[in-house]
Amino acid sequence: MKLIELESVDSTNKYLIKYFNEFDSFTFVKSKYQTNGKGRNKRRWYSPNGENLLFSFLLKEKDIIDNYKFLSITIASVILEKLNQLGMENVSLKWPNDIYVNDKKICGILLEGRIPEYIVVGVGLNVNQKEFSGIYRVTPTSIFLQLNRKIDINELFLSIENSLYKNVKNFEKYISFAIEHDYLKNKIYKYNDLEVLCLGIQKDGSLKIRNQNNKIEYLFSGELTL
Ligand code: BTN
Repeated sequence: MKLIELESVDSTNKYLIKYFNEFDSFTFVKSKYQTNGKGRNKRRWYSPNGENLLFSFLLKEKDIIDNYKFLSITIASVILEKLNQLGMENVSLKWPNDIYVNDKKICGILLEGRIPEYIVVGVGLNVNQKEFSGIYRVTPTSIFLQLNRKIDINELFLSIENSLYKNVKNFEKYISFAIEHDYLKNKIYKYNDLEVLCLGIQKDGSLKIRNQNNKIEYLFSGELTL
């Protein structure tokens, strides 16, 4: 493992994508601030300076890249487990890679890269932010708002970094964990603008849904919106 710590950068994901050739697998980049933080679907990721955890890491191993379909769920589950260990309740995984607490979003994950060469995993976890102004698709929350205590961001990062390093290939265990903490299960959500009933995360990492024609489908990636 290697850690690059920055005060400010455009985006930790962009940084690793730019220099992926020069770094080994499990190079982590963490920044206190991002001037152009990226969210999924070309959205922006805003975070006040020093209040939250913003990091990315690089993966190059063949056995990880070959299993990239399990990756976002595994990473989200590893972080969810940490939140449980901090004493947070009602934490769940919104397939494929968001973490929700009490219907509010606390963590977003963005996977980018070029298969089979490399994958960059970017994590934005709201830690000590007390107020969220602005318009959000999903109401955000933070560890502080949930537990009412300030968290040492560096300490939390080191413990997440270690767990990711140890567990990122532990797909089986963490998919089972995700199935037990499935936010979408039995909820009606929109997929490609059509309402579907979510029937739950499957062992292969897909999401089973029933569509409007009463047909069962298995989604392997995609965006579900309220
Ligand atoms: C989402 O849309 O939910 C994914 C958000 C991912 C944000 C993180 S913050 C660290 C890393 N660098 C970025 O530019 N984005 C990710």
